[in-house]
Amino acid sequence: MGVYAVAICLFFSLSVVLCLRIPNLSSDIEKDTILLSVCHPGNQPNPSTLRSDQLTVLINGYSESRIPLLQSIAASYSASPVVSSVLVLWGNPSTSPLTLSQLAYNLSVSSWGNAAISLVPQPSSSLNARFLPRSSIGTRAVLVCDDDVEVDLKTVEFAFRMWKGNPDRLIGIFVRSHDIDMTRKEWIYTVHPNKYSIVLTKFMMMKREYLFKYSCGGGSPMHEMRKMVDEMRNCEDILMNFVVAEETNTGPLMVGVERARDWGDPRNEDSDGDGLRLVRDVGLSSRKAEHWKRRGKCITEFHRVFGRMPLRYSYGKLVSSVGEQGLCKKGSNLVLCDH
Ligand SMILES: *[C@@H]1O[C@H](CO)[C@@H](O)[C@H](O)[C@H]1NC(C)=O
Ligand SMILES: *[C@@H]1O[C@H](CO)[C@@H](O)[C@H](O)[C@H]1NC(C)=O
Repeated sequence: MGVYAVAICLFFSLSVVLCLRIPNLSSDIEKDTILLSVCHPGNQPNPSTLRSDQLTVLINGYSESRIPLLQSIAASYSASPVVSSVLVLWGNPSTSPLTLSQLAYNLSVSSWGNAAISLVPQPSSSLNARFLPRSSIGTRAVLVCDDDVEVDLKTVEFAFRMWKGNPDRLIGIFVRSHDIDMTRKEWIYTVHPNKYSIVLTKFMMMKREYLFKYSCGGGSPMHEMRKMVDEMRNCEDILMNFVVAEETNTGPLMVGVERARDWGDPRNEDSDGDGLRLVRDVGLSSRKAEHWKRRGKCITEFHRVFGRMPLRYSYGKLVSSVGEQGLCKKGSNLVLCDH
């Protein structure tokens, strides 16, 4: 991982001095120290003090070029009455302290509602950090999301209602599947038209307890898999799906959306000039075909360490309206009977 990390660092920071902060053995020790403290039972809030009527939004940020978009997404979530607070987890250790303090200020004044928006700089770029069970999370539910997807608030509220009815499940909007390649005898990462087993962190709602299970539970096998996530700089979302499926023996739940704008999807056409391409291509996971292969490799590795395949398929999606679907003749047309 060393070589890859240094390449990223040079690319983003242009400063060799800042590269000393790139993860290596000593920062592994730093990560273990953070875990020891976060995972200490005394540092976990008493479950009875956690709010159930609201959730905490955790947005991952990394690319400085995406800051304006990140800020507008954070502001949008802050306007929802079901959002208690928005934490922007900044995972780029080479961002300058000046930019960080400006960003922290800009975010703090950009809330549109009662939910405060705060910046939480991460000591490393570890993707595992997005799942730390931070003491600042004072709600039973969390919404983990990316800095390039904006979901309308009606959908957020609908997803939260669905979570309340199914608090042990992972709830999402963007889904994928695992499958097996019989000829090569390995797992692949794919999309099925009618079923799914993986929810992406573009929008992932779940109970706070799963953050603890992911970060603090599972003994040395989980330690090994969190380390793989660090080495591959990818697949933390897949690992969370494994953790939850292992616990519940069921698949995730997909909710239908009113409107979800995805700036990170490679199928975006670059009609706005270079700005869009910049947003799309700076994502750490946007290397297309290679990306899908690496995700398949993660599934294969996690399966090996778990010793079984916990992922389960789910079918169908939850919809927020159950209007009459029958057709009636009105005038000379067949229209929905409700019309
Ligand atoms: C990791 O970084 C520390 C300084 O931060 C350095 O002393 C050490 O040699 C580095 N280890 C590796 C394996 O690069
Ligand atoms: C913060 O906001 C100011 C004023 O709108 C802007 O000039 C600056 O670029 C912003 N900085 C960051 C890091 O968001």
